[in-house]
Amino acid sequence: VVARSGAEALDRTDPLSAFRDRYVFPDDTIALDGNSLGRLPRDTLTRLERVVERQWAGGLVRSWDDWLDLPRRVGDLIGGALLGAEPGEVIVADSTTVNLHKLAAAALRAGGRDRPVVVTDRGNFPTDRYVLEALGPVRWVDEPGIGALGDDVGLVAFSHVDYRTGAVADLAGITAAAHAAGARVLWDLSHSVGVVPVDLAAHEVDLAVGATYKYLCGGPGSPALAYVRRDLIEVLRSPIPGWFGHRDPFLMGPAYEPADDIRRFLAGTPTVLALACVEEGARVLADAGLEKVREKVMGLTSFAVALADAWLVPLGFTVASPRAARRRGAHVALVHPRAEVVCRALVDVGVVTDFRHPDTLRLGLAPLSTRYVDVWDALDRVRTIGRGLS
Ligand SMILES: Cc1ncc(COP(=O)(O)O)c(C=O)c1O
Repeated sequence: VVARSGAEALDRTDPLSAFRDRYVFPDDTIALDGNSLGRLPRDTLTRLERVVERQWAGGLVRSWDDWLDLPRRVGDLIGGALLGAEPGEVIVADSTTVNLHKLAAAALRAGGRDRPVVVTDRGNFPTDRYVLEALGPVRWVDEPGIGALGDDVGLVAFSHVDYRTGAVADLAGITAAAHAAGARVLWDLSHSVGVVPVDLAAHEVDLAVGATYKYLCGGPGSPALAYVRRDLIEVLRSPIPGWFGHRDPFLMGPAYEPADDIRRFLAGTPTVLALACVEEGARVLADAGLEKVREKVMGLTSFAVALADAWLVPLGFTVASPRAARRRGAHVALVHPRAEVVCRALVDVGVVTDFRHPDTLRLGLAPLSTRYVDVWDALDRVRTIGRGLS
C-alpha cells in the first residue's frame, strides 16, 4: 500500500510538523494514546517551575492575586480557541464527573418537576451513565440521536465523540431537535475538545463538560471544563453551593449567594498547579489553530484506516471507526478478539495504545505530537504481532 517513505513524505509537507518540538520526548516510545493522556508540553515544565518557585515559594499566599482568576482565564482560552464560546462561558475546575453532575443537576432542577427525564445512550461513557442515572429517570437510546421526545424530558446528554469507536455525533441536529422539544442539551466533549471543531455558540448548545488531560495535555487528573451558555448562567444554580461559587467568597457571609457569572459553577479552591498545566497545554493547540489541527487529525486517522484496511483486516481485525474522516474524532478503533494480547505485546515493542474491554484497541492520534511515520511504524508492529496470532 504505502511504503515508509510515503509516510516520511507526508511528514515533510505537514504544516504543523514544527509543533512536535513543543513536547517532551524522553525516548523513542510511540505514544498513540493521546485520547487517554496527552504528552507533556515543554512550556509546562518551565511554567511549573515558575509557579512553584516564584509564586508558591516566593509569593506565598500573595500569589492568590494571580491564581484566583485561573479557572476563568483558562476557560476563556479553551472556549475562545477551541469551542466557539464567548468569554465568560467556560470555567476549568473539578473533574468531568463532578462538572457533569453540577450542570445536569442544575438543568434538571431549572426544567421543573414536569420534566424529570434524562435521555442518554447505552454506549455513553460509564461515568456519564452513572451520574445521570443518579439524577432521575433515564430514557435509554442505542446511540446519540433522538426520535420523538416526550414532554417529560428535561435534559438530553450525549458524548460528542464516542469513547470506543471515535464516531462524532450530530451535535447540531440533536441540539436543535432537543430544543424544539423543550429540553436542554449537555454535551460531553472529552474526546472532541482540541481535535474536532465544536462551535457551541453557533449551535446554541446549553451545557458542556470535558476532560483536559487528553488532547489538551493538561496532565494526569487535570481539572475539567464546564461550559454554560451565557443566558443560562443566571438561571441555573450549582447543586454544590461552595464558597468559591459565592458572589464574594471572602465576605464569609452567613448565606450562600451565587456569583452572577460563570464562577457560580466553581465549588472549592482551584487546583492551581494543574490549572497552570492546562493553560500551557491548551495554548499549544491554540497557537497551532484548530482548523489546521483538524486537517491533521483527519489526515492521520485516514492514514491509519488505510493501513489497517491493507494490513490488518486480512489478519482478522475490523476497523470500528466511521469510514468518513469528518465523522471521526482523533482515535481509530480496531476490533480483534485478542485485542488485549495485542495491546500488551505492543508495549514490548515500544508502542503505547489502549485497550477497551472486551475487544477494542484504540489508537489515539494526538495531532501535534504524532507523525505519519509513527502511525506507519505502529501499525507495522501491530501487523507483525497479528501475524503471530493467526
Ligand atoms: C467521555 C468521557 N467522559 C468522562 C470521562 C472521565 O471523567 P473524569 O475526569 O471525571 O474521570 C472520560 C474519561 O476518559 C471520558 O472519556
